[in-house]
Amino acid sequence: MTVQLSDITWDAFRALELGEKGRYLANDGREYHVLVAQQFNRKRLEELGALATHIRRISKQEAGMTFLRSLLPNQRAMLYFSQPSSRTFLSFCSACEILGMNIGEVRDTATSSEFKGETQEDSVRTFSSYFDLIVMRSQIGGLAERMAWLLSNTERPVPIINAGSGKDQHPTQALLDVYTLQRSFEKRGSIDGKTIVFVGDLARGRTVRSLAWLLTNYRDVKMLFVAPTELQIGEDILGLLRSAGVKHEVMSDFDKAIPMGDAIYMTRIQDEWDAAGESRKIDISRYCFTRDKLALLKPDAVIMHPFPRRQEISVDVDDDPRAVYWRQMRNGMWIRAALIAAIFGKEKAINEYFAAQA
Ligand code: NCD
Repeated sequence: MTVQLSDITWDAFRALELGEKGRYLANDGREYHVLVAQQFNRKRLEELGALATHIRRISKQEAGMTFLRSLLPNQRAMLYFSQPSSRTFLSFCSACEILGMNIGEVRDTATSSEFKGETQEDSVRTFSSYFDLIVMRSQIGGLAERMAWLLSNTERPVPIINAGSGKDQHPTQALLDVYTLQRSFEKRGSIDGKTIVFVGDLARGRTVRSLAWLLTNYRDVKMLFVAPTELQIGEDILGLLRSAGVKHEVMSDFDKAIPMGDAIYMTRIQDEWDAAGESRKIDISRYCFTRDKLALLKPDAVIMHPFPRRQEISVDVDDDPRAVYWRQMRNGMWIRAALIAAIFGKEKAINEYFAAQA
Protein backbone atom coordinates (compact mmCIF):
# COMPACT_ATOMS: atom_id res chain seq x y z
CA MET A 1 0.00 0.00 0.00
CA THR A 2 1.44 3.36 -1.00
CA VAL A 3 0.36 6.02 1.43
CA GLN A 4 -1.21 8.96 -0.34
CA LEU A 5 -1.49 12.66 0.45
CA SER A 6 1.80 12.67 2.30
CA ASP A 7 3.49 14.52 -0.57
CA ILE A 8 1.15 17.48 -0.89
CA THR A 9 0.19 20.30 1.46
CA TRP A 10 -3.40 20.54 2.65
CA ASP A 11 -3.85 23.90 0.95
CA ALA A 12 -2.54 22.57 -2.35
CA PHE A 13 -4.79 19.49 -2.18
CA ARG A 14 -7.82 21.47 -1.13
CA ALA A 15 -7.32 23.90 -4.01
CA LEU A 16 -7.42 21.15 -6.67
CA GLU A 17 -10.63 21.08 -8.69
CA LEU A 18 -12.64 17.86 -8.37
CA GLY A 19 -11.39 16.21 -11.56
CA GLU A 20 -7.78 16.92 -10.53
CA LYS A 21 -8.42 15.58 -7.02
CA GLY A 22 -9.83 12.44 -8.58
CA ARG A 23 -6.79 11.98 -10.81
CA TYR A 24 -4.49 12.59 -7.87
CA LEU A 25 -6.25 9.94 -5.75
CA ALA A 26 -6.68 7.42 -8.59
CA ASN A 27 -3.11 6.29 -7.99
CA ASP A 28 -2.92 4.28 -11.24
CA GLY A 29 -6.09 2.42 -10.38
CA ARG A 30 -4.84 1.27 -6.96
CA GLU A 31 -7.09 2.55 -4.20
CA TYR A 32 -5.72 3.89 -0.96
CA HIS A 33 -8.09 6.58 0.32
CA VAL A 34 -11.55 6.57 -1.26
CA LEU A 35 -12.76 10.15 -0.97
CA VAL A 36 -14.44 11.36 -4.15
CA ALA A 37 -16.35 9.76 -7.02
CA GLN A 38 -13.99 11.54 -9.42
CA GLN A 39 -11.19 9.08 -8.62
CA PHE A 40 -12.81 6.23 -10.57
CA ASN A 41 -12.55 5.96 -14.34
CA ARG A 42 -14.45 3.56 -16.54
CA LYS A 43 -11.75 0.89 -16.57
CA ARG A 44 -11.61 0.89 -12.79
CA LEU A 45 -15.43 0.81 -12.49
CA GLU A 46 -15.45 -2.29 -14.66
CA GLU A 47 -12.64 -3.96 -12.72
CA LEU A 48 -14.35 -3.27 -9.37
CA GLY A 49 -17.70 -4.52 -10.74
CA ALA A 50 -16.02 -7.73 -11.90
CA LEU A 51 -14.30 -8.15 -8.52
CA ALA A 52 -17.64 -7.65 -6.71
CA THR A 53 -19.23 -10.30 -8.91
CA HIS A 54 -16.36 -12.70 -8.21
CA ILE A 55 -16.77 -12.19 -4.46
CA ARG A 56 -20.55 -12.66 -4.79
CA ARG A 57 -20.14 -15.92 -6.71
CA ILE A 58 -17.30 -17.27 -4.54
CA SER A 59 -19.38 -16.68 -1.40
CA LYS A 60 -22.10 -19.02 -2.66
CA GLN A 61 -19.92 -21.99 -1.63
CA GLU A 62 -18.94 -22.86 1.93
CA ALA A 63 -15.29 -23.29 0.86
CA GLY A 64 -15.47 -19.96 -0.94
CA MET A 65 -16.70 -18.17 2.17
CA THR A 66 -13.84 -19.70 4.15
CA PHE A 67 -11.38 -18.53 1.48
CA LEU A 68 -12.75 -14.97 1.57
CA ARG A 69 -12.65 -14.88 5.38
CA SER A 70 -9.01 -15.96 5.28
CA LEU A 71 -8.01 -12.83 3.33
CA LEU A 72 -7.88 -10.09 5.98
CA PRO A 73 -8.14 -11.69 9.44
CA ASN A 74 -5.40 -9.45 10.83
CA GLN A 75 -6.91 -6.15 9.71
CA ARG A 76 -9.28 -4.06 11.78
CA ALA A 77 -11.79 -1.54 10.46
CA MET A 78 -13.22 1.40 12.38
CA LEU A 79 -16.70 2.49 11.36
CA TYR A 80 -17.05 6.11 12.45
CA PHE A 81 -20.57 7.23 11.55
CA SER A 82 -21.52 10.50 13.21
CA GLN A 83 -24.54 10.87 10.91
CA PRO A 84 -27.49 8.42 10.78
CA SER A 85 -27.08 5.36 8.57
CA SER A 86 -28.60 1.90 8.17
CA ARG A 87 -27.59 0.47 4.78
CA THR A 88 -24.18 2.05 4.38
CA PHE A 89 -23.18 1.11 7.92
CA LEU A 90 -24.53 -2.45 7.79
CA SER A 91 -23.21 -3.16 4.31
CA PHE A 92 -19.72 -2.01 5.37
CA CYS A 93 -19.97 -4.25 8.48
CA SER A 94 -20.97 -7.19 6.32
CA ALA A 95 -18.31 -6.43 3.71
CA CYS A 96 -15.62 -6.41 6.44
CA GLU A 97 -16.95 -9.66 7.88
CA ILE A 98 -16.96 -11.35 4.46
CA LEU A 99 -13.22 -10.59 4.26
CA GLY A 100 -12.56 -11.78 7.83
CA MET A 101 -11.85 -8.32 9.26
CA ASN A 102 -12.68 -7.23 12.79
CA ILE A 103 -14.76 -4.14 13.31
CA GLY A 104 -15.03 -1.33 15.85
CA GLU A 105 -17.62 1.43 15.73
CA VAL A 106 -18.58 4.87 16.96
CA ARG A 107 -22.04 5.81 15.79
CA ASP A 108 -23.09 8.26 18.40
CA THR A 109 -20.58 10.90 19.42
CA ALA A 110 -22.53 11.38 22.66
CA THR A 111 -20.85 8.11 23.73
CA SER A 112 -17.32 9.01 22.55
CA SER A 113 -14.82 11.58 23.77
CA GLU A 114 -16.15 14.08 21.24
CA PHE A 115 -18.81 14.60 23.90
CA LYS A 116 -16.05 15.75 26.24
CA GLY A 117 -14.88 18.26 23.68
CA GLU A 118 -12.35 16.18 21.74
CA THR A 119 -11.85 17.42 18.18
CA GLN A 120 -12.68 15.21 15.21
CA GLU A 121 -8.98 15.38 14.30
CA ASP A 122 -7.98 13.85 17.63
CA SER A 123 -10.78 11.27 17.43
CA VAL A 124 -9.68 10.06 14.01
CA ARG A 125 -6.05 10.00 15.07
CA THR A 126 -7.09 7.90 18.06
CA PHE A 127 -8.90 5.45 15.78
CA SER A 128 -5.80 5.12 13.64
CA SER A 129 -3.90 3.98 16.74
CA TYR A 130 -6.07 0.87 16.96
CA PHE A 131 -7.40 0.26 13.44
CA ASP A 132 -6.06 -0.30 9.92
CA LEU A 133 -8.94 1.29 7.98
CA ILE A 134 -11.38 4.06 8.86
CA VAL A 135 -14.78 4.24 7.17
CA MET A 136 -16.39 7.56 8.04
CA ARG A 137 -19.66 9.39 7.50
CA SER A 138 -20.12 12.98 8.53
CA GLN A 139 -22.48 15.82 7.89
CA ILE A 140 -19.50 18.08 7.31
CA GLY A 141 -18.65 18.37 3.62
CA GLY A 142 -15.01 17.59 2.86
CA LEU A 143 -14.24 16.26 6.36
CA ALA A 144 -13.15 12.82 5.11
CA GLU A 145 -10.63 14.52 2.81
CA ARG A 146 -9.23 16.61 5.60
CA MET A 147 -8.90 13.58 7.89
CA ALA A 148 -7.26 11.53 5.16
CA TRP A 149 -4.68 14.24 4.62
CA LEU A 150 -4.11 14.56 8.35
CA LEU A 151 -3.54 10.83 8.89
CA SER A 152 -1.29 10.51 5.87
CA ASN A 153 1.05 12.91 7.62
CA THR A 154 1.26 11.05 10.93
CA GLU A 155 3.36 8.04 11.89
CA ARG A 156 0.31 5.76 11.60
CA PRO A 157 -1.28 6.52 8.26
CA VAL A 158 -4.30 4.36 7.46
CA PRO A 159 -6.70 4.54 4.52
CA ILE A 160 -9.98 6.42 4.86
CA ILE A 161 -13.17 5.59 2.98
CA ASN A 162 -15.74 8.36 2.67
CA ALA A 163 -19.13 6.80 3.48
CA GLY A 164 -21.00 10.05 2.86
CA SER A 165 -19.89 13.61 3.56
CA GLY A 166 -22.23 16.57 3.79
CA LYS A 167 -24.20 17.26 0.64
CA ASP A 168 -21.14 16.84 -1.52
CA GLN A 169 -19.99 13.24 -1.92
CA HIS A 170 -21.05 9.63 -1.44
CA PRO A 171 -18.55 7.78 -3.61
CA THR A 172 -19.30 4.22 -2.46
CA GLN A 173 -23.04 4.73 -3.02
CA ALA A 174 -22.18 5.83 -6.57
CA LEU A 175 -20.08 2.67 -6.98
CA LEU A 176 -22.97 0.44 -5.91
CA ASP A 177 -25.34 2.37 -8.17
CA VAL A 178 -23.03 1.91 -11.15
CA TYR A 179 -22.63 -1.78 -10.25
CA THR A 180 -26.45 -2.10 -10.17
CA LEU A 181 -26.70 -0.40 -13.58
CA GLN A 182 -23.93 -2.63 -14.98
CA ARG A 183 -25.82 -5.73 -13.79
CA SER A 184 -29.21 -4.44 -14.93
CA PHE A 185 -27.99 -3.70 -18.46
CA GLU A 186 -25.74 -6.76 -18.78
CA LYS A 187 -28.01 -8.35 -21.36
CA ARG A 188 -28.57 -5.07 -23.21
CA GLY A 189 -24.96 -4.12 -23.88
CA SER A 190 -23.79 -1.79 -21.13
CA ILE A 191 -24.51 1.58 -19.55
CA ASP A 192 -23.51 3.18 -22.88
CA GLY A 193 -26.39 4.83 -24.68
CA LYS A 194 -28.83 4.61 -21.75
CA THR A 195 -31.05 7.35 -20.35
CA ILE A 196 -31.00 7.84 -16.59
CA VAL A 197 -33.80 9.86 -14.99
CA PHE A 198 -32.99 11.45 -11.61
CA VAL A 199 -36.00 12.42 -9.52
CA GLY A 200 -36.57 14.21 -6.20
CA ASP A 201 -34.23 16.35 -4.13
CA LEU A 202 -31.46 16.86 -6.67
CA ALA A 203 -30.25 20.04 -5.00
CA ARG A 204 -29.07 18.38 -1.79
CA GLY A 205 -28.80 14.67 -2.57
CA ARG A 206 -25.14 13.63 -2.47
CA THR A 207 -25.88 10.27 -4.11
CA VAL A 208 -27.10 12.01 -7.28
CA ARG A 209 -24.06 14.30 -7.44
CA SER A 210 -21.61 11.40 -7.14
CA LEU A 211 -23.50 9.13 -9.56
CA ALA A 212 -24.00 11.84 -12.21
CA TRP A 213 -20.23 12.29 -12.28
CA LEU A 214 -19.51 8.56 -12.60
CA LEU A 215 -21.96 8.29 -15.49
CA THR A 216 -19.90 10.78 -17.50
CA ASN A 217 -17.44 7.90 -17.93
CA TYR A 218 -19.86 6.19 -20.34
CA ARG A 219 -20.63 6.92 -23.99
CA ASP A 220 -23.90 8.56 -25.11
CA VAL A 221 -25.53 8.51 -21.70
CA LYS A 222 -28.39 10.97 -21.35
CA MET A 223 -29.42 12.34 -17.95
CA LEU A 224 -32.83 13.82 -17.19
CA PHE A 225 -33.27 15.77 -13.96
CA VAL A 226 -36.88 15.88 -12.77
CA ALA A 227 -37.68 17.97 -9.69
CA PRO A 228 -39.66 20.93 -8.42
CA THR A 229 -37.74 24.15 -9.19
CA GLU A 230 -36.58 24.61 -5.59
CA LEU A 231 -34.95 21.15 -5.55
CA GLN A 232 -33.42 21.11 -9.04
CA ILE A 233 -29.87 20.01 -9.73
CA GLY A 234 -27.16 22.61 -9.10
CA GLU A 235 -25.25 24.62 -11.64
CA ASP A 236 -22.01 22.84 -10.66
CA ILE A 237 -23.29 19.50 -12.00
CA LEU A 238 -24.90 21.12 -15.05
CA GLY A 239 -21.64 22.91 -15.83
CA LEU A 240 -19.77 19.65 -15.52
CA LEU A 241 -22.17 17.90 -17.91
CA ARG A 242 -21.92 20.76 -20.39
CA SER A 243 -18.15 20.72 -20.38
CA ALA A 244 -18.08 16.90 -20.66
CA GLY A 245 -20.52 17.13 -23.61
CA VAL A 246 -23.08 14.91 -21.85
CA LYS A 247 -26.67 15.13 -23.11
CA HIS A 248 -29.02 16.24 -20.35
CA GLU A 249 -32.32 17.96 -19.70
CA VAL A 250 -33.82 19.71 -16.69
CA MET A 251 -37.54 18.94 -16.48
CA SER A 252 -40.51 19.19 -14.18
CA ASP A 253 -42.93 16.74 -15.85
CA PHE A 254 -42.31 13.28 -14.35
CA ASP A 255 -44.89 11.50 -16.54
CA LYS A 256 -43.13 12.79 -19.63
CA ALA A 257 -39.74 11.57 -18.39
CA ILE A 258 -40.70 8.03 -17.27
CA PRO A 259 -41.16 6.48 -20.75
CA MET A 260 -37.74 7.81 -21.81
CA GLY A 261 -35.83 6.25 -18.91
CA ASP A 262 -33.77 3.06 -18.89
CA ALA A 263 -33.29 3.70 -15.18
CA ILE A 264 -35.40 5.89 -12.91
CA TYR A 265 -33.36 6.97 -9.89
CA MET A 266 -35.72 8.16 -7.15
CA THR A 267 -34.62 10.15 -4.08
CA ARG A 268 -36.26 11.51 -0.96
CA ILE A 269 -36.47 15.13 0.24
CA GLN A 270 -33.33 15.86 2.29
CA ASP A 271 -35.13 18.13 4.75
CA GLU A 272 -32.62 17.56 7.54
CA TRP A 273 -30.55 20.27 5.84
CA ASP A 274 -32.95 23.14 6.35
CA ALA A 275 -33.41 23.99 9.97
CA ALA A 276 -36.60 25.95 9.35
CA GLY A 277 -38.17 22.92 7.64
CA GLU A 278 -39.16 25.05 4.63
CA SER A 279 -38.62 22.20 2.16
CA ARG A 280 -41.14 20.04 4.01
CA LYS A 281 -43.79 22.33 2.59
CA ILE A 282 -42.85 21.62 -1.04
CA ASP A 283 -45.49 19.54 -2.78
CA ILE A 284 -43.70 16.48 -4.15
CA SER A 285 -46.83 14.47 -4.93
CA ARG A 286 -46.08 14.82 -8.65
CA TYR A 287 -42.63 13.28 -8.12
CA CYS A 288 -43.72 10.01 -6.54
CA PHE A 289 -43.54 6.62 -8.24
CA THR A 290 -47.01 5.23 -7.61
CA ARG A 291 -48.26 1.94 -9.01
CA ASP A 292 -50.16 3.59 -11.90
CA LYS A 293 -46.83 4.93 -13.23
CA LEU A 294 -45.61 1.40 -13.97
CA ALA A 295 -47.69 1.48 -17.16
CA LEU A 296 -45.52 4.37 -18.42
CA LEU A 297 -42.23 2.55 -17.79
CA LYS A 298 -40.34 0.68 -20.54
CA PRO A 299 -40.61 -3.11 -20.10
CA ASP A 300 -36.85 -3.46 -19.50
CA ALA A 301 -36.22 -0.31 -17.46
CA VAL A 302 -35.27 -0.38 -13.76
CA ILE A 303 -36.38 1.68 -10.76
CA MET A 304 -33.63 2.50 -8.27
CA HIS A 305 -33.46 4.37 -4.96
CA PRO A 306 -30.52 4.76 -2.54
CA PHE A 307 -33.00 4.53 0.36
CA PRO A 308 -34.32 5.37 2.91
CA ARG A 309 -37.57 6.06 1.11
CA ARG A 310 -40.57 7.93 2.33
CA GLN A 311 -43.63 8.18 0.10
CA GLU A 312 -41.73 8.73 -3.17
CA ILE A 313 -42.05 5.06 -4.15
CA SER A 314 -45.22 3.33 -3.01
CA VAL A 315 -44.74 -0.10 -1.49
CA ASP A 316 -47.08 -1.66 -4.03
CA VAL A 317 -44.40 -1.00 -6.67
CA ASP A 318 -42.00 -3.35 -4.84
CA ASP A 319 -43.22 -6.58 -6.42
CA ASP A 320 -42.72 -5.34 -9.99
CA PRO A 321 -39.62 -7.05 -11.46
CA ARG A 322 -38.35 -3.64 -12.60
CA ALA A 323 -38.08 -2.42 -9.00
CA VAL A 324 -34.44 -3.26 -8.23
CA TYR A 325 -33.84 -1.17 -5.09
CA TRP A 326 -33.63 -4.14 -2.75
CA ARG A 327 -31.06 -5.82 -4.99
CA GLN A 328 -29.27 -2.46 -5.31
CA MET A 329 -28.93 -2.40 -1.52
CA ARG A 330 -27.34 -5.86 -1.45
CA ASN A 331 -25.00 -4.85 -4.29
CA GLY A 332 -23.61 -2.31 -1.83
CA MET A 333 -22.22 -5.10 0.30
CA TRP A 334 -20.47 -6.77 -2.66
CA ILE A 335 -18.96 -3.62 -4.12
CA ARG A 336 -17.76 -2.44 -0.69
CA ALA A 337 -16.16 -5.83 -0.08
CA ALA A 338 -14.48 -5.46 -3.50
CA LEU A 339 -13.22 -1.98 -2.63
CA ILE A 340 -11.78 -3.01 0.73
CA ALA A 341 -10.16 -6.10 -0.81
CA ALA A 342 -8.60 -3.83 -3.46
CA ILE A 343 -7.29 -1.36 -0.86
CA PHE A 344 -5.55 -4.20 0.96
CA GLY A 345 -4.09 -5.69 -2.23
CA LYS A 346 -6.28 -8.82 -2.39
CA GLU A 347 -7.79 -8.24 -5.82
CA LYS A 348 -5.43 -10.61 -7.64
CA ALA A 349 -5.89 -13.42 -5.11
CA ILE A 350 -9.69 -13.21 -5.44
CA ASN A 351 -9.63 -13.08 -9.24
CA GLU A 352 -7.25 -16.07 -9.35
CA TYR A 353 -9.40 -18.08 -6.92
CA PHE A 354 -12.45 -17.31 -9.04
CA ALA A 355 -10.70 -18.29 -12.30
CA ALA A 356 -9.54 -21.58 -10.76
CA GLN A 357 -13.12 -22.47 -9.76
CA ALA A 358 -14.72 -21.55 -13.10
C1 NCD B 1 -28.27 8.20 1.26
C2 NCD B 1 -27.34 9.17 1.98
O1 NCD B 1 -27.04 8.97 3.15
O2 NCD B 1 -26.90 10.09 1.32
N1 NCD B 1 -28.48 7.03 1.95
C3 NCD B 1 -27.65 5.96 1.73
O3 NCD B 1 -26.47 6.03 2.00
N2 NCD B 1 -28.17 4.88 1.16
C4 NCD B 1 -29.51 8.83 0.79
C5 NCD B 1 -30.41 9.52 1.76
O4 NCD B 1 -30.14 9.61 2.94
O5 NCD B 1 -31.45 9.99 1.29
